[in-house]
Amino acid sequence: STHSSVTIDPLRIVGNELKFLSKNIRQLLGSGHPILDTVAKYYTQSEGKHVRPLLVLLMSRATANTAKQPRHSQLELSQSAINTPISSPAVLYDNNPDQIASPLIDANDSKYAFAGDASILPAQRRLAEITELIHTASLLHDDVIDLSETRRGEPSANTTFGNKMAVLAGDFLLGRASVALARLRDPEVIELLATVIANLVEGEFMQLKNTAMDEKNPRWSEDTISYYLQKTYLKSASLISKSCRAAALLGECSPSVVEAAYSYGRNLGLAFQLVDDMLDYTISGAELGKPSGADLELGLATAPLLFAWRSRPELGKLVGRRFAEEGDVQQARDIVLQSDGLEQTRALAQEYCEKAISAIQILPAGEAREGLEDMCTKVMKRRK
Ligand code: FPP
Ligand code: MG
Ligand code: MG
Repeated sequence: STHSSVTIDPLRIVGNELKFLSKNIRQLLGSGHPILDTVAKYYTQSEGKHVRPLLVLLMSRATANTAKQPRHSQLELSQSAINTPISSPAVLYDNNPDQIASPLIDANDSKYAFAGDASILPAQRRLAEITELIHTASLLHDDVIDLSETRRGEPSANTTFGNKMAVLAGDFLLGRASVALARLRDPEVIELLATVIANLVEGEFMQLKNTAMDEKNPRWSEDTISYYLQKTYLKSASLISKSCRAAALLGECSPSVVEAAYSYGRNLGLAFQLVDDMLDYTISGAELGKPSGADLELGLATAPLLFAWRSRPELGKLVGRRFAEEGDVQQARDIVLQSDGLEQTRALAQEYCEKAISAIQILPAGEAREGLEDMCTKVMKRRK
């Protein structure tokens, strides 16, 4: 055969784990109010890519066989606490979830979604679910802010249920994510993921109102790019980097492994969003499953345009009025496509991917590390 080696499929490495993810998440989202229950679970039914949980699970496996550095003595407590159901059918009458009298779920009971990969701790598995909950909450709110009518090829939650219910459902997801997080009984991990929630809002604010430029008379400067990258870190890379870090902390890894996990997530997260901003220019809405060309329509100048702007100063006045006048969106789009903005964006994403790969070279070689490396290739090749 001309095929050289077996390809590593990250989805296969932790595929068994992922199979149970959506079911577990739906369990975390049970509400006694039937409509809230439906709205909260709405995005768990569509075909998400589960990038963040996948990364947490791969990182958990990739760091499993590194030297351990015990952090606290209450691990047993957290192991049982995370398996206690967070919602009960009687949740409407529930004053304090800790007082729910229900038997602990036996993690080895096949009825419970335990996929059996011994190198992944129950707390890390729960962390993976929490990252998807926080991400999904941000999508519920994002689609309201962006007036998006589609998500993953289906009508968005705000389209289907209206803005009020979509916003409230997002808040509910954050509440349940917080309960699940608290039950990990790990203050450092709680602090990391709580910071992520704040960071998402900070990133969204930076995008809403650019404080690094004179919006009346915008001019390109190096600050233009650094502001964009800071925003991008907060909006997209914070969740990935801090959850990779949290996975290593839960695995009681040494400080250098914790840093490596964080650096991998930070660099991959930045690459991921750079590619996302590129796809908004290059892929149709039908293929993306969400509106394409949406950023310019929303008045947003992302990496491809910011790089184009450097050599095309006439973009400044369009940026200043947020592409709001007749023909602005088309004109800006044409200039970006004629420039090397997309190419520069791809090159920067590629650089971050290489940094991500180099960060994890201190981890033991093997299938899980290769899975993490392959995620970098996949990010560069993705079309949705
Ligand atoms: C998608 O970006 C949105 C985000 C990555 C984060 C949005 C954050 C908020 C709305 C703040 C509130 C946060 C929480 C946790 C409730 P996009 O609009 O560029 O991507 P899209 O094309 O997928 O819509
Ligand atoms: Mg948005
Ligand atoms: Mg959006």
